[in-house]
Amino acid sequence: MTTVAQRIHDLDQVIRLRRTTKPEKMNGNSIPEQTIRELLELADWAPTHAYTEPWYFVVYAGEAVKRFCKDHAELYKQHTPEDRFQAGTYEKLEHMGDKASHLIALCMKRGDNPNIPVLEEIAATSCAAQNILLAAAARELAVYWGTGGQALKPAMKEYLGLGEADQVLGLLYLGYADNVLVPGKRNKPLEQKIKWVS
Ligand SMILES: Cc1cc2nc3c(=O)[nH]c(=O)nc-3n(C[C@H](O)[C@H](O)[C@H](O)COP(=O)(O)O)c2cc1C
Repeated sequence: MTTVAQRIHDLDQVIRLRRTTKPEKMNGNSIPEQTIRELLELADWAPTHAYTEPWYFVVYAGEAVKRFCKDHAELYKQHTPEDRFQAGTYEKLEHMGDKASHLIALCMKRGDNPNIPVLEEIAATSCAAQNILLAAAARELAVYWGTGGQALKPAMKEYLGLGEADQVLGLLYLGYADNVLVPGKRNKPLEQKIKWVS
């Protein structure tokens, strides 16, 4: 039986040691579907204003990750003027998920409650995303949140079947890697990001 103090300590450690792991550092091993379901179930406990629950996850597994990445590269090609197209970017996008197990397109689906501003729906979806990141860290899974390529572009929204008012927040690549829980770095001291008022 763990004590409250132990649980707090464990949670603090997960928050501190959660790190971004780039997909190229992943090792190609598959995450059990049940584990991915656990992450999504925990995401669903994020807070929302007025129970709008705006998050929407498109989950790719195994070969579907590779197909998604190929399609992502093609979207980049289709929507980039010829003089700006870079073969290196195409290849990077195409092979981004080669060693990942799953990819989750992290989406905000705008509901029909006009009293809730878009900002709140994006904030709530970000909370759901953080639940995924922390739950993944607690299970020593590697995760990368990417917004490059076409991830934030209208073409990706269309590809995922989203509506005009919806928003893609990023692509989460998940897998296994060595040493996923490590101390990180922050550039600005915390005190610069706080104003104490008393
Ligand atoms: C909204 C969002 C978008 C991000 N997009 C990218 C990205 O496109 N490329 C990238 O290398 N990292 C991206 N990251 C991951 C950050 O680079 C990473 O969180 C940051 O370097 C801090 O490292 P840590 O997560 O290990 O603490 C993104 C993170 C967030 C929250």
